[in-house]
Amino acid sequence: MTDKSSAIIPKSGITYRKYYNVSEYRSELWNGLKDEANQLNVDADGDQGDLIKSIHGVIAELEKIEKYWAFPGLVRINQLKECLDRREYHAFCNSVEELVRLLVSRAYYHESPESFDLNDDASHDPTPEQERKGHYFEVLFVNDIEIEEQEELRAQLRTLRGRDDEFYYDVVHVRTFQDALIALNFNHNIQSCIIRYNFPFQAESSIKNLRPFVSSWLTETTSAKRSSEIGIYLGRKVKELRPELDLFLVTDLSVEKLSDEALQNFRTIFYRQEDLTDLHLTILKGIDERFETPFYNALVSYSKRPTGVFHAMPISRGNSIFKSNWIKEMGDFYGRNIFLAETSATTGGLDSLLQPTGPLKKAQEMASRAFGSRRSFFVTNGTSTANKIVVQALVQPGDVILIDRDCHKSHHYGLVLSGAKPVYLDSYHLEQYSMYGGIPLKLIKEQLHTYKKAGRLNEVKMLLLTNCTFDGIVYNVEQFMEEVLAIKPDMIFLWDEAWFGYARFSSLFRKRTAMASADRLLKKFRSEEYKSHYTKLVDGGKSVSHLPDPDEVKVRVYSTQSTHKTLTSLRQGSMIHIYDEQFAQKVEESFIEAYMTHTSTSPSYQILASLDMGRRQAELEGNELVERSVERAMMLRVKIANTPLLRKYFDILTVTDLIPLSLRKSGFERYYSKDKGWGNISQEWKHDEFVLDPTKINLYIGRTGIDGDTFKKKYLMDQFGIQVNKTSRNTVLFMTNIGTTRSSVAKLIGVLIKIAQQLDERVASFSKQESLLHDDYVVNLTERLPALPNFSYFHDRFRSSETEEGNIRDAFFMAYNEHLCENLPIETCERLMKKGREIVSSSFVIPYPPGFPILVPGQVMTKGILEFMKALDVTEIHSYNAELGLRVFTEEALTDNP
Ligand SMILES: Cc1ncc(COP(=O)(O)O)c(C=O)c1O
Repeated sequence: MTDKSSAIIPKSGITYRKYYNVSEYRSELWNGLKDEANQLNVDADGDQGDLIKSIHGVIAELEKIEKYWAFPGLVRINQLKECLDRREYHAFCNSVEELVRLLVSRAYYHESPESFDLNDDASHDPTPEQERKGHYFEVLFVNDIEIEEQEELRAQLRTLRGRDDEFYYDVVHVRTFQDALIALNFNHNIQSCIIRYNFPFQAESSIKNLRPFVSSWLTETTSAKRSSEIGIYLGRKVKELRPELDLFLVTDLSVEKLSDEALQNFRTIFYRQEDLTDLHLTILKGIDERFETPFYNALVSYSKRPTGVFHAMPISRGNSIFKSNWIKEMGDFYGRNIFLAETSATTGGLDSLLQPTGPLKKAQEMASRAFGSRRSFFVTNGTSTANKIVVQALVQPGDVILIDRDCHKSHHYGLVLSGAKPVYLDSYHLEQYSMYGGIPLKLIKEQLHTYKKAGRLNEVKMLLLTNCTFDGIVYNVEQFMEEVLAIKPDMIFLWDEAWFGYARFSSLFRKRTAMASADRLLKKFRSEEYKSHYTKLVDGGKSVSHLPDPDEVKVRVYSTQSTHKTLTSLRQGSMIHIYDEQFAQKVEESFIEAYMTHTSTSPSYQILASLDMGRRQAELEGNELVERSVERAMMLRVKIANTPLLRKYFDILTVTDLIPLSLRKSGFERYYSKDKGWGNISQEWKHDEFVLDPTKINLYIGRTGIDGDTFKKKYLMDQFGIQVNKTSRNTVLFMTNIGTTRSSVAKLIGVLIKIAQQLDERVASFSKQESLLHDDYVVNLTERLPALPNFSYFHDRFRSSETEEGNIRDAFFMAYNEHLCENLPIETCERLMKKGREIVSSSFVIPYPPGFPILVPGQVMTKGILEFMKALDVTEIHSYNAELGLRVFTEEALTDNP
């Protein structure tokens, strides 16, 4: 028996201030209610006045939130209240428990929520109709009608459900503009939105407690107050917030009176007098279109057909495996389906990646819709290949590319293949963490002005940047492109978004993706408003040097994305997204050639099918999953900030640590601090040159005295089986993704606590000598950090002008001539450099981590670069043999005429 006095812990003290988002707050309230309901049940006959008061408090708080959900929603909240009023505490407790189970496990997404009705005696014994498995979603109605009318509408829509419908829904009703936006932000399972033409702006009830969760985007929409066409304005806002949703307008206005924008944003326009069946079927059709996975389906049905295989692929249908005497276990491990679906057939319902006309073509078109591009292409060899395709497609030998020096190595190889000449741009340094940041816009503009002055701006073809970086630095993509286009209106942009595929599905991140920025810029430059503003400035003799000329500017944007890194896809599944208004005229042919150059004629159908599925998931639940991964990252921040033992050894690097103030106009400092709680990120994400992706958590471990690589291998992996991707000398990078669970975050926190305890014990057991040694390690990792080298310059042999671009391809292939190269140990290089010899690398030298070249072919070595190499504590350095030394060009090779 529980001791009543100590066991009753009323939860009404749960305060919204503690939570990062409403989902966390909501689930904490439901869990709190469950605890209290249990207490009530344990001692149903005792004096429960305080507890019941507390329960009412929690329910009142839940009421404010549940109105934005159909499940459990206000209907079930009201049923719970009635149950409580009838003093049916046992039933109350069971009902709350069941609701919490359905919510926490998300079982209500496929167990029909109607199977849970508190007023229905058979509620725990579902009828066959209720037992039906399908996909549940919610539909938002924005309509200023009375509750009774709402209920009638809801009931009518329910009657339209078919027994075998694959999808079924319930309705969330709101009556105002603000409530609609709140619902869409809170409730990720809203998949369609039906908007009446006219309704009030202001939320129905006070949203004071909800403000921290909504303020950033709610304040942006106050102009709707003045809009006479509030329904159409809401449509625009919904498209900004959740572009994947199906939007319907119900109006009395004739089509002629509706703006083009309204006709574009709304999937269908309904007239009030039309019957609900049409609406219902259109809602289901919309979901079906996102649910459809043409290539995956084709592959599944192909694999079910009996087929004789008479071409080269013994693994197909598992023939070489299941009948084998020796490798059967492979079949047991993977299961039969994977082999049934192993094929390279391009007929029988399948398609050819190299010339798609059927389901693959359709799957790519659907991906284009989902990611907001004009064209999208699947790539089965990762973004390493996607990058080479795009570079080869867009630049020719001799073209100049402005490129970030610490971009992924595939770009550098792309330059070698294409013959384009790079101007390497240096990122800002984060010396104290041995990391690089992003390239400041100022630097890019300076380079462009240099080429302009030299009369050679036409040679600069492309700007290539990484968004976001491995460590989570995200560019202000729109600002960068706009200011660059003001100098060079036909610049082509390649944004390497290998790590940013999921960003499309969060309203916050989406603004900083290449595709969304390209779309906004194109609309802006083609708008009458922009054109007349520009003309007015010109006519008034004002400077327009900061604005792209609307008659000249072209929006030409490419993004490569490792779908497999951040969304659902098998390894190597990547996509190229294109928003280039000149693609068809100028690029398509060379793009197809480049695609043919790099794409295998035997692409993995499994990867392609998984990309198709990944797209389906992103369109239907991407928003929820991405928001959740941010929430998980925030949980980790809170826990580390609030646990003294963890703080002793670890810090999570903040925005202040990773972005210099000069590149952070908003002055935003950190996502969370123990004293101030949550930072307001809206201004930061809107205006700052760089922001930090919150799902990338850089843990600073300098004070442990253990370097990043050792921490990763010996502590996280060997002891606790935790896998991380990247380390620097004194940091370890953790990332949350759409698959990160609460329990994996809890596990990580537990592991960090254990490591901190081990460190405490270790430090306590040190002898004096060991202690001095340990302190020295700590100083090494916290103070004595090697200076990060910039790109030096190309040797004159590989440069033909005063500007900085170099002929990397020439240098790369020159090194194929054995007699033109030699190997020199680092110390010898240093000695020779002191004597005045310019030593030039003949190969790439790529330490991993960080994974980008610190030397490229043709680059002159500097003292700083060699010192950095010596200080590196990583064992993996690509293209470098420590025994032989650095591969360099001989002096003769550099002086002889080519
Ligand atoms: C910025 C960047 N681009 C491209 C790639 C290559 O992507 P993939 O592994 O899909 O080939 C990586 C890999 O880590 C990367 O970090």
